[in-house]
Amino acid sequence: TTRVLTGITTSGTPHLGNYAGAIRPSIEASLRPDVDAFYFMADYHALIKCDDPQRVARSRLEIAATWLAAGLDPEKVTFYRQSDIPEIPELCWMLSCVTAKGLMNRAHAYKASVDQNTDKGVDADDGVTMGLFSYPVLMAADILMFNAHKVPVGRDQIQHLEMARDIAQRFNHLYGGGQDFFVLPEVQIDDEVATLPGLDGRKMSKSYDNTIPLFEGGAKATRAAVMRIVTDSRQPGEPKDAEGSHLYTIYRAFARPEQSAQFRRALEEGLGWGEAKEQLFALIEDELGPMRERYDALMASPERIEEILQAGALKARALATPLMERLREAVGLRSPL
Ligand code: TYM
Repeated sequence: TTRVLTGITTSGTPHLGNYAGAIRPSIEASLRPDVDAFYFMADYHALIKCDDPQRVARSRLEIAATWLAAGLDPEKVTFYRQSDIPEIPELCWMLSCVTAKGLMNRAHAYKASVDQNTDKGVDADDGVTMGLFSYPVLMAADILMFNAHKVPVGRDQIQHLEMARDIAQRFNHLYGGGQDFFVLPEVQIDDEVATLPGLDGRKMSKSYDNTIPLFEGGAKATRAAVMRIVTDSRQPGEPKDAEGSHLYTIYRAFARPEQSAQFRRALEEGLGWGEAKEQLFALIEDELGPMRERYDALMASPERIEEILQAGALKARALATPLMERLREAVGLRSPL
């Protein structure tokens, strides 16, 4: 069997990029009989980006309800909250002790902060916390804890996966003694949707405030966001450059290939942007509409979600506890003299 694992940070409302890049492919993978899937809410990661407790709690509920509404079967998938697994921060510490600081210096998110600070002329590490700096180590602990073979993610996470492999290799080399503790995880990326653009054409992201929400605010909010997708000023009747428009890129992430080809021709033959947006919204709603009903029902019963997460934590810890025992021994914290 193949172990598949992925997580979503609970710092905001789930959006179309999370869905197309991570949730949808993960659900598809979890349905295969030879797959053992681990999906979780990365709430420790949320603390790095967000110091608003209410937002973290709300986001956790929204993301859990989204996974379940999208078809995650908690009987088959191990579905849990990161902070319910105390072995994860413990493993994170062990991994921190073998991770080169120089490796973390190269992390994109950290480097982006340093570059911004340098542009502003302030201290390079201004506003950078240890949480942000060691973010990739925590993510490596998430993945290595369950020895995941495949990690379905969007393109923005590739570097984190490479770092997880580096860290795993280093630990295996130092402590394995010929036997490997950790599998080297591989990214799994769907090229069609590896980076879903947002309203302004940049990567759809909470931090750019350019997202199309999945379920929150109802179909109305999704429609309103679709109508705000930025296009060029070509009028109905004028040929459009489909390939050059992110509206078309978003369309492709939800359509069958023949449907995309047809939409593309219509744009090239002068379909107006307003009408194109209506068609895109209808396409998205076809897929999300039925899920939205389940989502609303789940959001109305948070205790049900909590039960599911507690059951998931038990399953996850049944694996994490014995692994940590072996690791404590391997590094000398428990072994007899
Ligand atoms: P996060 O919460 O930023 O995003 C969750 C998932 O959604 C994908 N994604 C996108 N995919 C395509 N287009 C986009 N515009 C887009 N925006 C987001 C992300 O690539 C991701 O797959 N560090 C992770 C959470 C995490 C994790 C893990 C993932 C923590 N531990 C272990 C995998 C394995 C993050 O912040 O994702």
